[in-house]
Amino acid sequence: MEKVEVSTPGKLMLFGEHAVVYGRPCIVTAVDRRMKVKVEPMKNQGIEIAAPDVGVEKLSLGVQDLESTEIPKGARFIVAALRNFSRRYGVSSGIKVTTESEFSSEFGFGSSSAVTVGTIAALSWGVGENLSKEEMFRLAYQSVLDVQGVGSGFDIAAAVWGGTLSFIAGGREVVPLLAPRLPLVVGYTGIKADTTVLVKDVARKREVWPNLIDGVFDLMAVISKLAKEVLEKGEWDRAGDLMNSNQGLLEALGVSTIELSRLIFSARQAGAWGAKLSGAGGGDCMISLAEDEEKVERAIRDAGGVVIKVRTGTEGVRREEI
Ligand code: MEV
Repeated sequence: MEKVEVSTPGKLMLFGEHAVVYGRPCIVTAVDRRMKVKVEPMKNQGIEIAAPDVGVEKLSLGVQDLESTEIPKGARFIVAALRNFSRRYGVSSGIKVTTESEFSSEFGFGSSSAVTVGTIAALSWGVGENLSKEEMFRLAYQSVLDVQGVGSGFDIAAAVWGGTLSFIAGGREVVPLLAPRLPLVVGYTGIKADTTVLVKDVARKREVWPNLIDGVFDLMAVISKLAKEVLEKGEWDRAGDLMNSNQGLLEALGVSTIELSRLIFSARQAGAWGAKLSGAGGGDCMISLAEDEEKVERAIRDAGGVVIKVRTGTEGVRREEI
C-alpha cells in the first residue's frame, strides 16, 4: 500500500431535510471547509488511528478488532470504513489512519460522512483499486449505516461529488445543479444536534400521523424541485421565499428550536431573502440568503449566533499532494 492523503468537503443541507429520509429529493451543497484523511502502511499488521478532532489521540487495534462493537465513538466511522473496504478489496499491510479537520464536528457540517468517504477514498488510491465515485459512495454509505443505523446518505454524496446536488436517498438520484456560488450566510447556534434522535422523533410522529407527516414531506418535495430551478437561475429572492416555506414545514415536524428561530428571524429582519435551519434541527446551524451579507452577519451575531464563513458548491473528494 502507498501512503496517500485525500480531502473531502463538509456540507450544508439547503432544502428537504427529513423528507429525504422518506424518498423525497433534497438539495445539498458542499462547502470549502475540508477534512483531510491520510492512510499509510505500517510494518506490523495492526491498525492505528489518530483523529484528534473527534477525540481520538491514538488508538491501536488488531485486525480482528475491525469486527468489534466496542470501538470508541470518534473512531467508529473510520473503523467501519476500514472494515467494509478490506472485506471487499482486502488490505495486506497494517494501516495508520490520520485525520485533520478544518471544521468542528459540532457544526453539523458532516464530519462523520467526510471522514468515512476520506478513509474509503484514501484506501482506494492507496491500494491502487481506484474506485469509481459510485463505488466510494456505496461503501461509505454502508459504513455510515453500520454505525448510526439511519440516514439518507446526502452528506456522503456531497463529500464524494461536491458541488450542489439534487439527491434522493441511497444515491438513487445524484444530479449536479448548475448553480452559481450562493450568497449564503451561516449562523451556528452553539448547540450540538443529535441527528439520530431527531430522525427517530420524526419517525415516531409519522407512525402516529402518517397522512399529516407524509403530506409535509410531499410539500417539501415540491419545494426542493422548485428550488433546483430557481438556484440554477440565481433567483435569490425566490430561493429565499422557498427557504422560508421550508422552515415553516420543519416547524410543522417539530424539529426547530428557539435558538434556531432567534437566528432565523434576526436574519430575515436584517433583510435576508430567506432563512431556515439546515440539517436535522435541534441545534447546529441555520442558513440564510442575503444581498447585504455583512448586515445579516451582524444581526446573527447580535442574536447570539456564531457566523461561519463558507463558500458553497466546492470540489468533492480529491487526492492531495504529499
Ligand atoms: C440531517 O442532517 C438531515 C436528515 O435529513 C437526515 C438524513 O438525511 O440523513 C435529517
